[in-house]
Amino acid sequence: MNELLRVQDLAKRYGEATVFENVHFTLRPGEFVAIVGESGVGKSTLLNCLAGLDAWDAGHIVHGDGTDLSGLDETQRALWRRAHVGFVFQAFHVLPHLDVAQNVALPLLLLGQPDAARVEGMLAAVGLAGLGHRLPQQLSGGQLQRVAIARALIHRPALLLADEPTGNLDPATAARTLDLLIAQTREHGAGLVLVTHSEAAAARADRVLHLSARGIAAP
Ligand SMILES: Nc1ncnc2c1ncn2[C@@H]1O[C@H](COP(=O)(O)OP(=O)(O)OP(=O)(O)O)[C@@H](O)[C@H]1O
Ligand SMILES: [Mg+2]
Repeated sequence: MNELLRVQDLAKRYGEATVFENVHFTLRPGEFVAIVGESGVGKSTLLNCLAGLDAWDAGHIVHGDGTDLSGLDETQRALWRRAHVGFVFQAFHVLPHLDVAQNVALPLLLLGQPDAARVEGMLAAVGLAGLGHRLPQQLSGGQLQRVAIARALIHRPALLLADEPTGNLDPATAARTLDLLIAQTREHGAGLVLVTHSEAAAARADRVLHLSARGIAAP
């Protein structure tokens, strides 16, 4: 099986209003795909669907292990997501009452695989060494974004979904952060789907897919 993800004829509607339809693409292990498109076209919605966090109205999302997300109920999706997905949300979704290290460690705890040394290494990798005991409210926007990225990477998921992961970072930090996401993708044969308005970020992708109201037509 040389496919990590297959999206077939996906459509999403809110009542009568179609957000997108005709979305087709596949993702191979080790591949980095960027999704670009105008604000409001449905990029975040599409990522949420890929993670099974949002429902869609037509089409299929099939993951490489054969899991067809349409066939799973909410609990099954949550368990599947916990093991296989790392998600960097556009709005971070860092938990305010946990400190930085606890936020990053959470996916490992949920999998019953706590590993303080790995958390420490990941904090250093995203440039947050020494900040593990800070609370989220004591961080800058760019630091929070890096907490969200560390949390998405810590359990080495097969699928990385990142929504504007470098939107709050200066160009040098953005490039380093992208290096980390790409390294994880290449080294572990993961797949990276990255939504971005940044030309610099899209330029580093293996493929750039353009989402519009007419969808994505890609092999
Ligand atoms: N609950 C809802 N009911 C109706 N429309 C909604 C709802 N939630 C989102 N939308 C609409 O769905 C569309 C897609 O939103 P989404 O957040 O996916 O866009 P996006 O491409 O990620 O935009 P941006 O680049 O600004 O982040 C938007 O036009 C939004 O207004
Ligand atoms: Mg968005």
